[in-house]
Amino acid sequence: MSKVKTVLVAGLLGACLTGKAQQHNTSKDYQWPKDSLVTRKLHQWQNVKFGLLMHWGTYSEWGVVESWSICPEDEGWCERKGPYAESYNTYLAAYEKLQTTFNPVLFNPQKWAKAARQAGMKYVVFTTKHHDGFCMFDTDQTDYKVTDPKTPFSSNPRSNIAKEVFSAFRADSFMIGAYFSKPDWHSNDYWWRYFPPQTRNPSYNPAKHPDKWNQFKQYTYNQIEELMTDYGKMDILWLDGGWVRPKNTIDTAVDWQRAIPYDQDIDMPNIARMARKNQPGLLVVDRTVSGEFENYVTPEQSVPAGYLPYPWESCMTLGDSWSYIPKEHFKSTNKVVHILTDVVSRNGNLLLNVAPGPDGDWHTEAYERLQEIGSWMTVNGEAIYNTQGDSLIGEQGHVVFTHKPGATYAIYRSEEGKGSLPATVTLTHIPYQQVKNVSMLGAKQKLTWKQEGQTLVITIPEALLKKLPCKEAWSFKIRY
Ligand code: GLC
Repeated sequence: MSKVKTVLVAGLLGACLTGKAQQHNTSKDYQWPKDSLVTRKLHQWQNVKFGLLMHWGTYSEWGVVESWSICPEDEGWCERKGPYAESYNTYLAAYEKLQTTFNPVLFNPQKWAKAARQAGMKYVVFTTKHHDGFCMFDTDQTDYKVTDPKTPFSSNPRSNIAKEVFSAFRADSFMIGAYFSKPDWHSNDYWWRYFPPQTRNPSYNPAKHPDKWNQFKQYTYNQIEELMTDYGKMDILWLDGGWVRPKNTIDTAVDWQRAIPYDQDIDMPNIARMARKNQPGLLVVDRTVSGEFENYVTPEQSVPAGYLPYPWESCMTLGDSWSYIPKEHFKSTNKVVHILTDVVSRNGNLLLNVAPGPDGDWHTEAYERLQEIGSWMTVNGEAIYNTQGDSLIGEQGHVVFTHKPGATYAIYRSEEGKGSLPATVTLTHIPYQQVKNVSMLGAKQKLTWKQEGQTLVITIPEALLKKLPCKEAWSFKIRY
């Protein structure tokens, strides 16, 4: 678990850890952007609240963890199983050979965009390249890519998968984000085969072999440049693999950062300059590297314990795994609604991961969940989108709050499997002189309510209790 044991900076709840997931800490030193175009996009992004993340690569063919099984660290999430597991080299060779069988013939990103839109999601982040280095886009920098003739899917007219995903979601008005792994375990300039790789880090010391490292920097720059020039309008560059960072940015209070042996300065100023020249206002998310190039912070598989005053996003899996696994166990709709309302009331965004399988489609249950989440969002979206988190009232039992000018939303969440609301709901610490009206989103019936000082008692009529507009949570709109 030590990748997980990362010190959780105060305020981060280590909730719902899923076995192998790497825990990212939140940043201590958030820096607001100075570029007004970035600020504008950041606010636009904060308003949309809910996005889709997809981890997809050749690893889906084996139904194993994304990339990590080729990382020679003695950690649970790097475990190798199956017929090649006996020797590391045999395994790595077989893994890289997955390129020659990758053929997701059911690939249909319009279907995903539609399901995500109906769920109420408004942005997408897609793995253009994960740590294993396999490119889901048509890069000129390597032939370890989906469009190489060795890959059967290369003959498919939609073989440039990342481009197809971005176009399909953009056509549905999503904001578009490219997940890109800074580390690349296929590149001979990162895991230089002269030395066997022993950890997730380069197999050599960049300070001793600056030419090699410079080549790696150039390679990274070129790939990001391709993504920022040939893939249409991009909104987010989501950079993963926080151990690729300048040594002086290492936070020694964090286990996994303390273990970084070398300076791995990838020259973010140069990358960000180029990226924003091509994509004005682009959000750059250099995860865990606090400062100028981390436009928002990204707690992973966890929700901060309370309101945070700067932009943040929890990334979480709908199932247990970031990558496709055949027997997935999906979170209930009730749970997702609970997480989403926790996140939004604490001022963050939720980026929910669904993983495509080797055939190019999601599990059926993933569509079902998204559809149910969408039914809830159709009724309650007003309490979610374009709201602000609550630093004013404070969570009360089942209830969390969001705000808009002139209205506060009190969202009462159901217990799992219950789906019912008590006949009276009492809210305290309501700071408004005079509440003018209280209603329930999605309900026509009038509610009765009584304000006494800062206490507001809402009574829900019998008929409404019997026929509530949704199951998972109910939003009271308080106008004042
Ligand atoms: C964890 C996983 C990594 C994944 C990331 C997504 O760090 O180890 O593989 O891409 O989470 O947030």
